[in-house]
Amino acid sequence: MSMLDTLKDYSIVYSFDRSGFARHARQFSPIEDSHLIGKRYLVTGGTSGIGAALAQRLAEAGAEVLVTGRSRSRFEQSGLESLGVGYIPLDMADFHQVMQLKLPPIDGLVCNAGGMPGQLQLVNDEFDQIFASQVVGHYLLMRRCIESGLLTPGGSLHFTSSGGMYLKRLDLDDLCWQEDGYDKVKSYANAKRAQVILNEELARRYPDFIFSASHPGWVGTQALQEALPGFARHFSKRLRSDEEGADTIYWCLCEGEKLPSGEFWFDRQSRPVYAFPWTRESYTSRQRLMTLCATVWAETLG
Ligand SMILES: NC(=O)c1ccc[n+]([C@@H]2O[C@H](COP(=O)([O-])OP(=O)(O)OC[C@H]3O[C@@H](n4cnc5c(N)ncnc54)[C@H](OP(=O)(O)O)[C@@H]3O)[C@@H](O)[C@H]2O)c1
Repeated sequence: MSMLDTLKDYSIVYSFDRSGFARHARQFSPIEDSHLIGKRYLVTGGTSGIGAALAQRLAEAGAEVLVTGRSRSRFEQSGLESLGVGYIPLDMADFHQVMQLKLPPIDGLVCNAGGMPGQLQLVNDEFDQIFASQVVGHYLLMRRCIESGLLTPGGSLHFTSSGGMYLKRLDLDDLCWQEDGYDKVKSYANAKRAQVILNEELARRYPDFIFSASHPGWVGTQALQEALPGFARHFSKRLRSDEEGADTIYWCLCEGEKLPSGEFWFDRQSRPVYAFPWTRESYTSRQRLMTLCATVWAETLG
C-alpha cells in the first residue's frame, strides 16, 4: 500500500466512504462462490439496506435465503420475494419469540438487524431496545442455532457491527439509562462494541463454527438517513451503496472455514478492534457481558 493510501485510511472519511471501498477493492480477488449453491442462510434484518443487498447476492449465487425483520411490508418492498427469498417475522428484542422461532437447518447466520431508535424503549426493564435486539437477541439466536444442531458444523456466524464501536469502551453499568439521559449514539456504539467482544468470546467457546464480525463503512441506507440525518446529508455524495456495504459479509460467508474464527473485518481485511487504548475493556467486563447474556439464555429456557 502506498503512503498516500495509508494516510487516506487513517483519515477515516476516505476509508469508510465509497472512495475507500473503491481503493480497497483494487486488492480484492474474485470471489469463489459456486459452493453456495443449495446452502441455506438466515439473515436478520434482511428486509432492507445492507441485509437485503446481502440476501439478494446470496440468492443470485444459488443459495436459499431466509430474512427476518419486524415489518412484512418492508420485505414486500425489497423485491426479494421474486428471487425466492423467504421471510420470517421476528423482533430481535422479543427474547421468547427468538427462542421459539421455527427454523430449518442452516449453513450460516448473519446477525445484521439493527437500528438506532430515537426514543428510549425498555425491554423487560433490563435493557434499552438497542442492546436488547442487537446484543442479547442475537446472542440467543446464535446459541440456539448452535446448541439445537440447526447450524451445520463448520457453519458461519457473522455480526454486522459498526466502525462507531471504535469510540466506545464496553459499559454495562446502566443499560436502562436510569442515571444519564438516553443517548442513542452512545448506546449504539456500546452495542456494536459488545458484538465484537461476543464474536471473540463465542469463537473460543464454539471452536467447531466460524465466527466473524465486520463493519460496512458508511452506507446510505434508510437507517442511516433516519438516525443521523445531518451526517447523511453532509456526506451524501460519499456514502457507500448497499451492495458495497454487504460485500465483506458476503466474502466472509464465501470464505467459510478458510476464515480464522473470531476476527473483525473491513473491506475483506482483518482489522484491529481497538483504535484507542481507553476503549479497551477489562477481563471482568468481558466476563460480565458473557454472564449477562447467559443469564437471559437460562431465564428464557426455563
Ligand atoms: N448504514 C450504515 O452506514 C451502517 C454502518 C455501520 C453499521 N451498520 C449496521 O448494518 C446493519 C444493517 O443496517 P442498515 O444500515 O442496512 O439499516 P436498514 O436498511 O434500516 O436495515 C435494518 C434492518 O434491520 C431490521 N431491524 C431493525 N431493528 C430490528 C429489530 N429490533 N428486530 C428485528 N429486525 C430489526 C429492519 O427491519 P424492521 O425495521 O422491519 O424490523 C431492517 O431489515 C445494522 O446492524 C446497522 O447497525 C450500518
